Amino acid sequence: MSTCFADNLDSELLDKQPFKFHHKLMGHPALSLENLSRVLPTLPGQQVMYSKGLLDVDADFESTFRKKPKDRSLEEVIESIRTTDAYIMVRSPEVDPSFADLYRALCGDVSTLMKQRGVGEMPVGAQLYLFIASPNSVTPFHIDRYSTFLMQFRGSKTVTVAHPWDDRVVSQQDREAYVIRQNTKLPWTSLIDQLSTAFEFSPGEALHIPFVAGHHVRNGPEDVSISMSIIFNTDESIRWRDALSFNHVLRKQLGRLGMQPAKVGQSAWRDSLKSSLWHRYIKMRGFGE
Ligand SMILES: [Fe+2]
Repeated sequence: MSTCFADNLDSELLDKQPFKFHHKLMGHPALSLENLSRVLPTLPGQQVMYSKGLLDVDADFESTFRKKPKDRSLEEVIESIRTTDAYIMVRSPEVDPSFADLYRALCGDVSTLMKQRGVGEMPVGAQLYLFIASPNSVTPFHIDRYSTFLMQFRGSKTVTVAHPWDDRVVSQQDREAYVIRQNTKLPWTSLIDQLSTAFEFSPGEALHIPFVAGHHVRNGPEDVSISMSIIFNTDESIRWRDALSFNHVLRKQLGRLGMQPAKVGQSAWRDSLKSSLWHRYIKMRGFGE
């Protein structure tokens, strides 16, 4: 029985295709405005990222929020976000004790899916992210070096997600360069949307975004969006990440001979081999492990 996710999830789909389901966290006390108002100002500055768009006329918004939380309630901040094209992103709220049980429960649900699918026991490097964002705000097209479960609490979103290994959406070369952080800008064309699924997403719903699946997000027009994600790697996605990094280096070498490396994500034994070669390579280059 899942604590946070719906009970009928198909673990076989984990990291294979995006899917929507219901979460059980609506009304969770950790996510109440009262608790968030208390927690956010206590978190280290680098964990609370604040961005405001060009339309913002409220010049000292951030310092007001950060330095004088008592002068300005989170409700007021959220009210401002409604009209100012801004967002607050909170990384790892689980460092606050009020999020500890929630974090453990989410890791437990992810762990169940991972075990069922045979990709490890526990999520690796699991982190929570909270997003409070203006209506209509957009997260541009990108891929992630981890897997995601995104849960919606307020407002709506359209999340457009492609198949994780579709080379028409992201070329093998771009995927590899992105994963190794050599290139963070991916080309986008309207063809990508034709190849993707647009998920309409409202409070109480959750979405799985597989490792390296291209996606972009648009918040609905009617309300501030509040969502939370858990990001993590599995034993399999760590292998993929290593193999993609290895391919990036190998591609340059083979390119001189007019050859290309085999695609990652199609053969577990080949990806394992590339993963161990990658570890050997970085050791040899003196980067350690
Ligand atoms: Fe993402």
